[in-house]
Parts: sequence; C-alpha cells; structure tokens
Amino acid sequence: MAFVPKIKIAPSILAADFSNFGAECRAIEAQGADWVHVDVMDGHFVPNITFGPAMCAALRPHIKGVMDVHLMIEPIDPFLEAFAKAGADHLTVHPEAGPHIHRSLQTIRGLGKKAGLAINPGTDIGMVPYLLDQLDLICVMTVNPGFGGQSFLDSQLPKIRALREMIGERPIFLQVDGGASVETAQRIVAAGANVLVAGAAVFKGGSADNPDAYGRNIKMIREAAQGAR
Ligand code: DX5
Ligand code: ZN
Repeated sequence: MAFVPKIKIAPSILAADFSNFGAECRAIEAQGADWVHVDVMDGHFVPNITFGPAMCAALRPHIKGVMDVHLMIEPIDPFLEAFAKAGADHLTVHPEAGPHIHRSLQTIRGLGKKAGLAINPGTDIGMVPYLLDQLDLICVMTVNPGFGGQSFLDSQLPKIRALREMIGERPIFLQVDGGASVETAQRIVAAGANVLVAGAAVFKGGSADNPDAYGRNIKMIREAAQGAR
C-alpha cells in the first residue's frame, strides 16, 4: 500500500505573538492545524534567534497534537536530548549542523522521537538514499532558513519531485517549509509534498483573541493544496 497521507497543515509559530505562545498554539489547533511547527534558531546557524528547550517544554501542555520541532542550531548533537525531554514529537535537523547526520538521526530515534532531515535551498539531496532508513520526515526548505515571510523559491520544486521519487512508498512525510500560501500550495503538493508549514499565511489577520482568521487561512491553504491531488 502506498503511503498517501491526508495533506497536513503545520502553522509555524514564528509568525505568532511571542508574548502569547500558549494561547496561540491552542488557537491554531482549535482552528484546524494538524501539527504545530516550532522553529528553534540560535543566531549562529541562522541569522536569527528564537528560543530553546525551556520554551518548548512550556509550550508542550498547550499542544494536544504533534509538536514538530525544526532545529536550526549548531552544534546539534549536544542539544537533542534536551529537546526530546521538552516533549517534541518530531526533531528535524540540518545536515550542516553537525559532523555525522546519520548518527544525529539515529540519536533522535533512540530518544523515541520521529527523525526529520531539513534540506536548505542550496543543499544537494545526494545523501538522502543513504539516510532513508533513518528518516520519518524530510523537510524541503523553500526559503533560506532564519526568517518568516520570505518569498517561495520555485527553484526547489524539482527537488521536491526528486525526493518524492526517492521516498517511493516508504512512510516518510515530505514537508515543505517557507513561503507556503494559498498561491503556492497547489504547486507544492503537485510536486509531491504532503505537509505544508505556513507561518505568515496562517497568522495574517488574526490573533489568539480573534482566531477565526486563522481558521479561514488554514481552510483556504488546505483547499488549494487538495486541489492539486
Ligand atoms: C524559516 C522557518 C519557517 C518559517 C516559515 O526559517 O523554518 O518555518 O517560519 O514561515 P513562512 O511560512 O512565513 O515563510
Ligand atoms: Zn521551520
């Protein structure tokens, strides 16, 4: 049986109100988010700083479903256990962030978490066939990591298609992160992705006190994505 999961929408809380994360997480889940995408940045691997494992642990009780943690930190290996203990369900890592990506992925699985590989726009995917057995998720970056609200890079669409071929029928999620919106969702899914991270496109026009806009945005992105299938 082919692994063809329902399209998942994973709002990135990078676009949420940083003074109100707990309520923001509850609001997006109530409005139809499938996963909550949590962007961890260190000001070194990427040119921006967000937060660390203590914030993830604080968010955990506010997230009923999947906490999808995207680690943009270097070095990566010394921090994996802390993020696992903070309650992440998925830990996604960049191959440039440590010396041995295969070992980092093994470590994540060893901590009882799902292991993700994030691939920057300029990063080749030649390594992927050698990592497939360690992977639960591949995250194709369609912007350079570090900031929300950037323009989607169409140059990455052939990479998504190539990864879809490599994954075949394996139960590996193919996620796209960066610039996903009503405008880009269809070509993202047509290329073979099944998880859309979206920050700006989900959070625009709403707030935790006025969450209906989140629901409308998620619904419109989902409908555009499903239209491609
Ligand atoms: C970028 C982050 C993304 C980002 C997506 O480094 O990994 O998750 O927040 O934001 P949008 O959807 O606004 O491009
Ligand atoms: Zn991300």
